[in-house]
Amino acid sequence: MKINGTPYRAIWPTSDAVEIIDQTQLPHEFVTLRLNTMRDAERAIKDMQVRGAPLIGVTGAYGVALAMRADVSDAALAEACSVLLAARPTAVNLRWGVEKMRELLASLPQDEREAAAWAEAARIADEDVAINETIGRHGYEIIDEIHQRKNAAVNILTHCNAGWLATVDWGTALAPIYTAFDAGIPLHVWVDETRPRNQGASLTAWELGQHGVPHTVIVDNAGGHLMQHGMVDMAIVGCDRVTARGDVCNKIGTYLKALAAHDNGVPFYVALPTPTIDWTLQDGVKEIPIEERAEEEVTHIAGLCGDGQVRRVQVTPKGSHAANYGFDVTPARLVTGLITERGVVKADAQAMQVLK
Ligand code: MRU
Repeated sequence: MKINGTPYRAIWPTSDAVEIIDQTQLPHEFVTLRLNTMRDAERAIKDMQVRGAPLIGVTGAYGVALAMRADVSDAALAEACSVLLAARPTAVNLRWGVEKMRELLASLPQDEREAAAWAEAARIADEDVAINETIGRHGYEIIDEIHQRKNAAVNILTHCNAGWLATVDWGTALAPIYTAFDAGIPLHVWVDETRPRNQGASLTAWELGQHGVPHTVIVDNAGGHLMQHGMVDMAIVGCDRVTARGDVCNKIGTYLKALAAHDNGVPFYVALPTPTIDWTLQDGVKEIPIEERAEEEVTHIAGLCGDGQVRRVQVTPKGSHAANYGFDVTPARLVTGLITERGVVKADAQAMQVLK
């Protein structure tokens, strides 16, 4: 993905560290950060300097590599895995990335671990890019079909940020959009602002803008109204965990969008790499751990002031408490299809067998 004309990934290794784009500074400042230690990687995930399920998974893998640079012992490997796994609870990709590293490294003699860790983390990152590009091609077919039927610009609604910033490159939900846009299909994206952290308003709007994709930011409550008035042809969202029967966990508010889409006959697609499927779970509502974050993310908001400074202000009365659930679960029955690197599949246990 290009930023001001320069190609970037969302994470990359250097000769002695790992670099990331600090997503907490976007869209007003583009800042890159060095992760020198496993604890730096843990902090970057916890504080959401990196976020988005696939990117968290890759950062976890690089976190293990950073740990191996300092100490290749069994104890250091066990500690790195347990620290990184605890950084955020909902996205299963973190577990996937860290466990892949543990499995490989535990089987190797200690003197081979450091080199193998860097190679494996890089392989996982490259695999993420290839997967997302393929998701883009499969999702493109759906957008193309709508365009041919409609013969006018396709209006797509998305929630949160499931773009290249949430992955190593391309994104999941945004990959079909980039592919269709690059192929010349006229389209326009409705971007949910995604309170409380505004990943839509801050990140999705920014990266769509970098790519030149026409888009409009809307408040989270506007989607139902737009759907009732025929202004949304399809919704595509990403996800943090999908159960074996197709329940989808994604950023808080996704479920309400899926309900509105269902009520209005708007196709509701979920784009995901297959490592986002948690084959050990069935009932997403009961079984997926939902992250609860600090009240301040709800009670306060940051933005660019007229004097060019970014400031944080309080939007609630002093003393009012806030609840901050990070994710919700959309039952499989509300999902039109899962767009994966292996094709578009129905969100149900039997159809999903081909993804195993
Ligand atoms: O809390 P976040 O910003 O990490 O949540 C991100 C999302 O919910 C994304 O939609 C999801 O991770 C899919 S990313 C391709």
